[in-house]
Amino acid sequence: MRRATISQLLSLLLSLSPTTFAATSDDLAVQVGHHIVFSYPNLQPPDHLFDLIKQGKVGGVILFGENVADNLSTTIDAFQNAYKQSPGYPGSPLLIMTDQEGGQVVRLPGGPTMSAKQVGQSADPEGAATQSGKTAAGALEAYHVNTNLAPVLGVYREAGDFLDNYGRSYGNTSDLVAECASAFISAQQAGGAIATVKHFPGLGAAGKNENTDEEPVTIDLTLDELRSVDEAPYTGAIAAGIDMVMNSWALYPALDSKYPSGLSRSWVQDELRGRLGFEGVTITDAIEAGALEAFGDDPARAILASQAGMDIILASGRNVTQGEAIVDAMVSALQDGTLPRGSFAQATDRILALRSKISA
Ligand SMILES: *[C@@H]1O[C@H](CO)[C@@H](O)[C@H](O)[C@H]1NC(C)=O
Ligand SMILES: *[C@@H]1O[C@H](CO)[C@@H](O)[C@H](O)[C@H]1NC(C)=O
Ligand SMILES: *[C@@H]1O[C@H](CO)[C@@H](O)[C@H](O)[C@H]1NC(C)=O
Repeated sequence: MRRATISQLLSLLLSLSPTTFAATSDDLAVQVGHHIVFSYPNLQPPDHLFDLIKQGKVGGVILFGENVADNLSTTIDAFQNAYKQSPGYPGSPLLIMTDQEGGQVVRLPGGPTMSAKQVGQSADPEGAATQSGKTAAGALEAYHVNTNLAPVLGVYREAGDFLDNYGRSYGNTSDLVAECASAFISAQQAGGAIATVKHFPGLGAAGKNENTDEEPVTIDLTLDELRSVDEAPYTGAIAAGIDMVMNSWALYPALDSKYPSGLSRSWVQDELRGRLGFEGVTITDAIEAGALEAFGDDPARAILASQAGMDIILASGRNVTQGEAIVDAMVSALQDGTLPRGSFAQATDRILALRSKISA
């Protein structure tokens, strides 16, 4: 048996004796905060985001192009300093993340200038991917960003597909994608940045206009094809020690005909953790994505994702109320048992273990 961690023991006590040891909602809000990544509009973060950070209700921030100016590192330092004043400050920094994939999909200046596609097509794909991973880590470090939502592990099928259209796929074979992705991950993680592979089990078969940000997308491949083509690069990424996996919002009826991957216990727990043996942190794609229109408002989606086994929820709608509403709803869900405290505490432990790898 694995050694129980302190928070697991604590949650066991809480579940045994809820009246004696009832955690206050403030305590739960601090625990839930570790799981929620916030976003904000434009260059100057609203004061309310700093207030929530000081209350311990924020686990990280995702940055978009509209948030980026030369002084971004000053803003991020202000977030981290505010966080140090929060109750239950765990001694590790907020996860500050962005999409620094390469080519057209970069939010910060500094590259990589090569797209994944160009890396895959180069004379030495592994060398080019290593250089891209180093460059991405350097660009992040320059702005005090500690987490990259890259690389993309999709194996595209047809020229002009959703991923190929912006050069986001390394190539059309699992071997090439795996070779490049593993090199990028190793170089970037060695450079001190947290890496994330996405979008599990893969968006390589999504057609040009099949964008989960906008609408529901169904990828109707056999489980055999999904495993042998799309999931294959995940085996190498997990062997390379990948920190985080982002699940896709597409529906893959081969394993779950009702829930998209990031809301699906079958995909998150049975396939990713069970079959592939991933023990790290899972993170959702944008919780406000159009693909989830059938699953309620953003707090309801966050609870479904958490129940399915997703550790971090990405509230990327670029306003602070979105993340705040999710924190409040998840606190209530823990109080009324909709979210089981034991597995939630294990997820908290995974997040804090990951964060302890990066310095404040
Ligand atoms: C950074 O600069 C922008 C304008 O370029 C300004 O709106 C913002 O307040 C500045 N942020 C900090 C932390 O100084
Ligand atoms: C990948 O693309 C190349 C070049 O377009 C093509 O020759 C090859 O048949 C494709 N491979 C697969 C597995 O689709
Ligand atoms: C915040 O963003 C979410 C997700 O895009 C949206 O549903 C909500 O209406 C926004 N709220 C405000 C106050 O802008």
